[in-house]
Amino acid sequence: MCGIVGYLGKNEKKEILLDGLQELEYRGYDSAGIAVIEGKNLNQFKAIGKLENLREKTKNYQTKGFGISIGHTRWATHGKPTELNAHPHLGDYSYVVHNGIIENYQALKAELQAEGVKFLSQTDTETIVHLFEKENKTSKSVFQAFKNTIERLDGAYATLLITQADTDTIYFAKHGSPMLVGFNGDDVYFASSDTPIIGKATEVYYLEDGEYGYAKEGVFKLFDANGEKTFKKQALTADKVLAQKDGYRFFMEKEIYEQSRVISETMMGRVLDDTIALDELGSDFFEGINSVKICACGTSYHSALTAAYLLERLAKVRCDIEIASEFRYKDPLLTPDTLFITISQSGETADTLEALKMAKRAGLKSLSICNVDNSSIVRESDAAILTRAGIEKGVASTKAFATQTMVLWILALYIGQEKKTISKDVLKTEIDAMLHTPKALVVTDTLHEKLHRLSKRYLHGHGFFFIGRDIFFPLALEGALKLKEISYMHAEGYPAGEMKHGPIALADSELFTIALMPKSMHYDKMKSNVEELSARDATICAISPLPFELADDFIQTKYDSHPMLEFFEMMVVTQLLALEISVRLGNDVDMPRNLAKSVTVE
Ligand code: F6R
Repeated sequence: MCGIVGYLGKNEKKEILLDGLQELEYRGYDSAGIAVIEGKNLNQFKAIGKLENLREKTKNYQTKGFGISIGHTRWATHGKPTELNAHPHLGDYSYVVHNGIIENYQALKAELQAEGVKFLSQTDTETIVHLFEKENKTSKSVFQAFKNTIERLDGAYATLLITQADTDTIYFAKHGSPMLVGFNGDDVYFASSDTPIIGKATEVYYLEDGEYGYAKEGVFKLFDANGEKTFKKQALTADKVLAQKDGYRFFMEKEIYEQSRVISETMMGRVLDDTIALDELGSDFFEGINSVKICACGTSYHSALTAAYLLERLAKVRCDIEIASEFRYKDPLLTPDTLFITISQSGETADTLEALKMAKRAGLKSLSICNVDNSSIVRESDAAILTRAGIEKGVASTKAFATQTMVLWILALYIGQEKKTISKDVLKTEIDAMLHTPKALVVTDTLHEKLHRLSKRYLHGHGFFFIGRDIFFPLALEGALKLKEISYMHAEGYPAGEMKHGPIALADSELFTIALMPKSMHYDKMKSNVEELSARDATICAISPLPFELADDFIQTKYDSHPMLEFFEMMVVTQLLALEISVRLGNDVDMPRNLAKSVTVE
């Protein structure tokens, strides 16, 4: 995801910006840029690819004395990763950097173009700087022009603006994307997270949504919808690794907590009030397509299995799912009316990449769902939908799974909408549920504490069965995979209705069954399956919004109005349960033994 750094003061600005952006590398990016104003001089540098390229371009440049400066690492959303699309974006005399998505940028851009403004990039961000310069022609102050500009933006943004019209001031605004301000004497820093300013600023203020203002030497003004406001700075930690983990014990834990936020990024600009938009796909993308085949590995394969239910049910498209390493050697029958979808967090998984190449050789149209733009799988595909989870550091995948599943749900609705196989009412109901997903993903202290306490009862036994039906079966597979990856205990995911066809033979008090019992989908059937296990003395941990008498342990969920909301809420429970068990066993949660984050070998 994009990263922002800003600095106002007398120190060497280039180094502060580049070092700060380096600290944000973990978020992922495909281009970077900086802009500095010193006196009346305005300098800017941009480079695609790694920050070293920007360092190389700026090696002979040095800043001197007081100045204002902004920097950015860009993770492409609107428009390809090119220098023109990299931030900062220039108007006639101002620069802007921005994280997030301006949802009404097309309307704003059309308005500005009609007035003769020329756009250089394909980005939504460039509208901000042109809009500002337009407002500045008629506003009584530069600040008023900035305020008028942000009032016209819909969507999410964290943005910094510098202008030759006011050469000692940085203007800032935050709504929906993270940004904080660091202070050290008269020096002011801005950043998307605190790692870039650790060791530089001594105090910090985390901006709230709807806040905006400006900083100049010795002056910092903060406003919201009610006018100017006071705020309280807090001391800034000096520990970088701790800060990268945002105070969480493990990256995996941080990533579980982040899911509620990143899922909003996944939906941004795609899930609208009563329609689904996927600008990544041309209007004729599904022409001639009668079926879908999805290929992936591991956790990504589990999101594919979930998608099969959604695609057939909502989009009425036939859908087959394949494990990439199996697909490669089975001499598959491939027909050109099949859309070949690959799912991959890293975009580099060797088996998935090779499966994609095979499908392309057979003449199939390809689409990838991926977290890393410009990865091999994205480059190899005809089209790509990015999951926008931000870099995932924990080896055990969590937020990647959540965002992949969201993209697939969006895709199912989009196909249904384009092929007119879904009614307006159903589409509306699905969209309403989608918009509630961030809430269903929130981790409450009560839930985390409960799972922490419960986990001590699950440190032994001869195995776990995660069971569920329909979309809760792939979730059961994923829950089991999470647990085995980081606890090193045996866990299996199973369709609940299949237990009596064999595995029930294992049932005794040392067999732990994690039962996914949603209210909105096949509750009674699921209940009967769990009762059969309970009758054989299996230990039952039930996850459900409905109390279940036979459960040895019971985790009550809240969202019962839509299966996908139940899915996401239960997903969080299984992730946290695995995490807490692993912690109690003293395992390395973020780097489990024998596993690698990106599997680039067959
Ligand atoms: C499990 C996990 C792996 C990956 C698999 C595919 O937590 O992360 O199972 O899902 O190796 O990786 P990607 O999605 O990068 O293709």
